Amino acid sequence: MKSLKSLNVQGKRVLCRVDFNVPLKDGKVTDTLRIEAALPTVKHLLKEGATVILMSHLGRPDGEPNPQYSLEPVAIELSRLLNKGVVFIHDCVGVDVQDRVAKLEPGALALLENLRYHAEEETNDADFARQLASLGDVYVNDAFAVAHRAHASVAAITELLPSAAGFLLESEVDTLGGLLKRPKQPFVAVIGGAKISDKISFLNNLVKKTDTIVIGGAMANTFLAALGHDMRKSIQEKSAYKEALKFLAEARHHEVEVILPVDVVVADSPDDGAKSRVVTVGQLAGGDMALDLGLATSTLIAEALHSAETIFWNGTLGLTEEKAFAKASHDLAKRMTKSKALTVIGGGDTAGYIDSIGMRNDFGFISTGGGAALELLAGKKLPAVKALED
Ligand code: 3PG
Repeated sequence: MKSLKSLNVQGKRVLCRVDFNVPLKDGKVTDTLRIEAALPTVKHLLKEGATVILMSHLGRPDGEPNPQYSLEPVAIELSRLLNKGVVFIHDCVGVDVQDRVAKLEPGALALLENLRYHAEEETNDADFARQLASLGDVYVNDAFAVAHRAHASVAAITELLPSAAGFLLESEVDTLGGLLKRPKQPFVAVIGGAKISDKISFLNNLVKKTDTIVIGGAMANTFLAALGHDMRKSIQEKSAYKEALKFLAEARHHEVEVILPVDVVVADSPDDGAKSRVVTVGQLAGGDMALDLGLATSTLIAEALHSAETIFWNGTLGLTEEKAFAKASHDLAKRMTKSKALTVIGGGDTAGYIDSIGMRNDFGFISTGGGAALELLAGKKLPAVKALED
């Protein structure tokens, strides 16, 4: 990709795509990871004397203006983080927007309203891209989390302005891409979360690169059930048994060790944390639901991590929203932060969990991407990355 460093931005209007798709509650940003991750690029542009016009999507407003998805609270948070005024512009295309942008003081910072208020963003519409492009002299993409979408603000626009990748996009592609290209061995991947179907293509690619894969979360229930264990009321995906068994065969073929749970924390329901207990896999009874990994499994994971040089974690190991079912994930997080290995976190839920336990700064790299990170690790070419290649 063309690098931001190779782009002359001095005195220019820089149109910069960021991913400020952040959670909001009562009109306030509740997780600033994605905003903070874009700051090195924004600060660099301002320091180099550019006027910076940021654009982003937020949520899925389906091509219609909807105040619930306004980026205005993000402008307030950005201003607080940078200690600098941010001009919020109430749309992203049109005559009024052009007028507001033309009146920006040199060196100013502006944020446009949600790109997805216009359906043309998601259809990669050339005319919509042209309207966006008219707002800047050059274009920078720093929105890794949306790099797997061929949308106008990350794809079509690159045909219209001199374009480059921002520092975040560059470091995400380098770090996650590096896991596939030249991981330091032993490489252990810990994969949790709910659904095999969401992750199978990335699991099938990781199995060619790793030494050990740990399977946790509700996804593990599907593997265990596919192997013939009675998982009682545990969440599982019956339609994915075949995929699960195929993956295990593939792992054997590549001589990759797969660690599945040997014990689990069970309860009658996710609200029943007070009555949870640990059982060996194969001994679930009645209405048991597996909601976390047990201590024996965490010990197996710890042994696998002990000599690892690279550890990648995607997907929590239990139902971390409930304290009673968060122990395995918490133990894993602690162990990773103490490891000498390169530690990489991928996926929005896992990053959010790490943030919620105050460990955001204790890992080698936390990806801001959810779907984008999984697609990159599945070996797919991301449309926004392709658009920036020479
Ligand atoms: C994300 O949160 O993964 C990105 O912002 C992309 O959002 P999308 O899945 O709505 O395209």
